[in-house]
Amino acid sequence: MPNNPAVKINNLSYHFTLEDKKRFEVLKNISFEVRQGEFFSIVGPSGSGKSTLLRIIAGLIQPSSGSVELLAKKSAMVFQNFAIFPWLTVHENVAFGLRMAGVPAAEQNKIVQEKIKEVGLPGFEKKYPKELSGGMRQRVGIARALAVSPELLLMDEPFSGLDAFTADALRSDLLQIWQKHRMTVVMVTHLVEEALQLSDRIMIVSRRPAEVKQILEVPMARPRNMRSVQFFSLADRIKSQIEL
Ligand SMILES: Nc1ncnc2c1ncn2[C@@H]1O[C@H](COP(=O)(O)OP(=O)(O)OP(=O)(O)O)[C@@H](O)[C@H]1O
Ligand SMILES: [Mg+2]
Repeated sequence: MPNNPAVKINNLSYHFTLEDKKRFEVLKNISFEVRQGEFFSIVGPSGSGKSTLLRIIAGLIQPSSGSVELLAKKSAMVFQNFAIFPWLTVHENVAFGLRMAGVPAAEQNKIVQEKIKEVGLPGFEKKYPKELSGGMRQRVGIARALAVSPELLLMDEPFSGLDAFTADALRSDLLQIWQKHRMTVVMVTHLVEEALQLSDRIMIVSRRPAEVKQILEVPMARPRNMRSVQFFSLADRIKSQIEL
């Protein structure tokens, strides 16, 4: 059922209320659907409201008006700044969601081993985050999200704190993981090339208050040739729509 929606956003708006009671509008009349199993990216200028939109989808904040309908049962979020617990080992971090869900220890260990392998961290189970590189910490964050077998994976700039080589490696690993599990992914990024390399569709939002400018389908089979004329011209087309 590849065309069934996993997320339906209907006429969603969001504003912060400032100290002087003034409204600080962040999102304006946003409507879109994410299909089941789709890799969907959101790109737009800095400060436009992308993270806020993702947090609303995650249920971490309530929209001011409009609605979010999640048809996927389980969701998990990967944060920008490797939000993993410094006082827990790699194993304990990855097991966190499972422990919260009351999964029996033996089952937890099996899943944790599997996910640690998927993200390429075997041998690091007993290490603490401070003993890991940034790339490895983000792998822990991804493994922790994957451990609960989410139908919906939300990612906020998951590669942005990493150097170019590490980010590249992690992107291809993520692509493989997605191709294996086919969970629905909603990823926020400011890198057009990253969105083009990974996504089925890309939504471009305007400056704040963010409105949907365009949603475009990426008409390229994977793995994508990032040096092709088609790739460059698509990237140009998207960039020309992003207001800086
Ligand atoms: N708690 C808050 N109170 C008031 N304003 C906020 C709050 N959190 C975020 N904002 C403002 O809302 C706007 C949107 O923020 P958001 O983090 O969603 O943008 P973004 O598109 O993710 O930006 P970036 O690409 O830089 O990560 C920004 O102008 C930000 O300053
Ligand atoms: Mg952001």
